[in-house]
Amino acid sequence: MRVLTTGGAGYIGSHTVLALIEAGHEPVIFDNFDNSSPEAVRRVAELAGRDIELIEGDLLDADAVDRVLSVGNFDAVIHFAGLKAVGESTAQPLRYYRTNVVGTLNLLDAMQANGVCQLVFSSSATVYGTSGASRCAEDLPLGTTNPYGTTKLQIEQILDDLAASDPSWHVAKLRYFNPVGAHASGRIGEDPRDIPNNLMPYVSQVAVGRRDHLSVYGGDYPTPDGTGVRDFIHVVDLAAGHVAALEALPEFPGARAWNLGTGEGNSVLEVVRAFERASGKSIPFEIVDRRPGDVAELVADPSRARVELHWKAERGLEDVARDSWNWQRNNPFGYENSDGDADA
Ligand code: NAD
Ligand code: UFG
Repeated sequence: MRVLTTGGAGYIGSHTVLALIEAGHEPVIFDNFDNSSPEAVRRVAELAGRDIELIEGDLLDADAVDRVLSVGNFDAVIHFAGLKAVGESTAQPLRYYRTNVVGTLNLLDAMQANGVCQLVFSSSATVYGTSGASRCAEDLPLGTTNPYGTTKLQIEQILDDLAASDPSWHVAKLRYFNPVGAHASGRIGEDPRDIPNNLMPYVSQVAVGRRDHLSVYGGDYPTPDGTGVRDFIHVVDLAAGHVAALEALPEFPGARAWNLGTGEGNSVLEVVRAFERASGKSIPFEIVDRRPGDVAELVADPSRARVELHWKAERGLEDVARDSWNWQRNNPFGYENSDGDADA
């Protein structure tokens, strides 16, 4: 399939573009590099052993998006592009609603106008934010606790209404749990622009010496070791989940949600220990107050994806730690100051 991938230069997008090529598809990237680098695309091309079509553009430019869809001859779209930092969304809600919701509306208008009606959308387990459940199946009541999460929920609702209005639409709403890890080559991985908000990139930066210690947010949760428990899913498994969803889409008219997670929970301290084993470095940490908005435990029930998409996560925490460390030690400052341009 010829697939437009918005945000395809980003962390999850870059791994998925590679997986799409490996599965025989033809991805085309649309990205404004707001939170990514052309170097990531260059490296995906190097790993794939072929050129990748890249269009630099902004989803907020409705005419540009329409032009891309009108000439691209696409079979489907995978929509990763958007802003994703929970804390920043609380400080800049309008920017988040504009980029995520208005950007998606522009994309959907252009898809509809050009007869492209198959979509895979990046949603998030954050839509289970108010359910109070620690193990989440897709039919739980949904609710959110921050503007970022609300943009994802609003987009899910828009997709439901759109699919209900016209039976030609086939939409996969993929609810990711905690994407982590990197491609085993160490050539592509997560490259946060500022101080990382998320656990795994923070731990990696402590191991490589960029930060001196980790703050563990809360040691008194009702979990086995008192620290938060999450479902950490390796990004290469997540990428495979997109290929599975794309290929299953023709069988699923309407809009349908699938969790992409492992079904296993690991605590913050288990992540720290796994990273210490993988890197041979010690990760100093301090237990501090809970972070507002965090829950004790959030783990996927991934059975629907296993049964309907024939997909399941193959990798565990040890693989995550090994591959994250391999990426971090080979690229201590991410794509910046990389060897990429020097020999290109
Ligand atoms: P990322 O920031 O690495 O990738 C997003 C990409 O979208 C970037 O390349 C960025 O430059 C691009 N982009 C942003 N605004 C754009 C615009 N207006 N026009 C065109 N391109 C634009 O993030 P990621 O971790 O790869 O996440 C991908 C998607 O998955 C996002 O929608 C995110 O909300 C969702 N998600 C991520 C996580 C996570 O923990 N990483 C969890 C759940 C859901
Ligand atoms: N944590 C720390 N120290 C840190 C960072 C995180 O102790 O420096 C802890 C958190 O308190 C939490 C766990 O590590 O217990 C995981 O936190 P992350 O920030 O890595 O991930 P979250 O589960 O908070 O959120 C992630 C994404 C969201 C997404 C959500 C869905 O960042 O975008 O998963 O479950 F919505």
